Amino acid sequence: MHSYTLLAPAKINLYLEIVGDRPDGFHELVMVMQTVALCDRITLRPNGLQEFRLFCSHPLVPQDSSNLAHRAATLMAKEFPRLFANYGGIDITIEKHIPVAAGLAGGSTNAAAVLVGIDLIWELGLTHPELETLAARLGSDTSFCVTGGTVICTGRGEILDPIAPLTGLWVILAKYDHLSVSTPWAYQSYRQKFQDTYLSSPEEFHHRRQQVSSGALVQAITQKKPAAIGKFIHNDLEKVVLPEFPLVAELRQVLGDLGGLGTMMSGSGPTVFTLCSSQEVAETIVKEAREILVAPDLQFWIAPITDTGIQVT
Ligand code: C5P
Repeated sequence: MHSYTLLAPAKINLYLEIVGDRPDGFHELVMVMQTVALCDRITLRPNGLQEFRLFCSHPLVPQDSSNLAHRAATLMAKEFPRLFANYGGIDITIEKHIPVAAGLAGGSTNAAAVLVGIDLIWELGLTHPELETLAARLGSDTSFCVTGGTVICTGRGEILDPIAPLTGLWVILAKYDHLSVSTPWAYQSYRQKFQDTYLSSPEEFHHRRQQVSSGALVQAITQKKPAAIGKFIHNDLEKVVLPEFPLVAELRQVLGDLGGLGTMMSGSGPTVFTLCSSQEVAETIVKEAREILVAPDLQFWIAPITDTGIQVT
């Protein structure tokens, strides 16, 4: 039986609109998700046991069955019990490079990599849509993470509509180490503040989806107009996170003022990203931002936009 090492990339939200409440307690979303080539390395090794074991040296990553990557393995065992019985368990080692609890889908992309890797080890030959359907049972961003690219994600986030890949751009990611935002808190706060703006029927959700598919951002992406892409990026969750986290608001302001194509918080934050036309532009902005924002725990990453999801090395 083979071992596999996979690269699991981060995502940013180029667009995140909360359009309504759902009966399952989640929110109906319209998002444009984008893969970024900042990757965790996930190694899967058959262990000959009847259990999955998870290893990760990052202090904030749980190493037990609460880890989404572990839950992905358990889901595969539940779905394919005969294969689990035949092949046995797997040791999952996660080498973290994506910041944790940051709005970059770090946990979701690790889980997607585990699904892809176990599919290979157990020689299942599942298609990407099949893997994405399984992934939807683990979280709202996990389906997107399987294939990645530039995708309109609706429903809870699991309905995927890929669009023309956005290539050639770079992104700066910036995050204060000590800050993290609870995603449920961000959504709940949004609901409390803005529920009167919510749509309520599936017809209305459908209509809003149509609007966004032909909307300004998607048009800018398909027409490959970087300046317009930067102009039309949007994230509803900024309305609740930025007032509560002044450091994130300041970081967003400083990065935005330094140039780039556009600056925005990703997901529920607290990571802020700036889209840049080249690596050189990104490096210049980071250098200048470091001079303005002197904080030992403020970290920056520079990575290209990519259309590649989970990759086997
Ligand atoms: O699905 P996931 O575990 O990533 O979601 C984390 C939290 O984000 C959920 O528990 C929920 O509070 C919120 N959420 C939501 N509506 C969505 C996606 C996430 O309310 N469509």
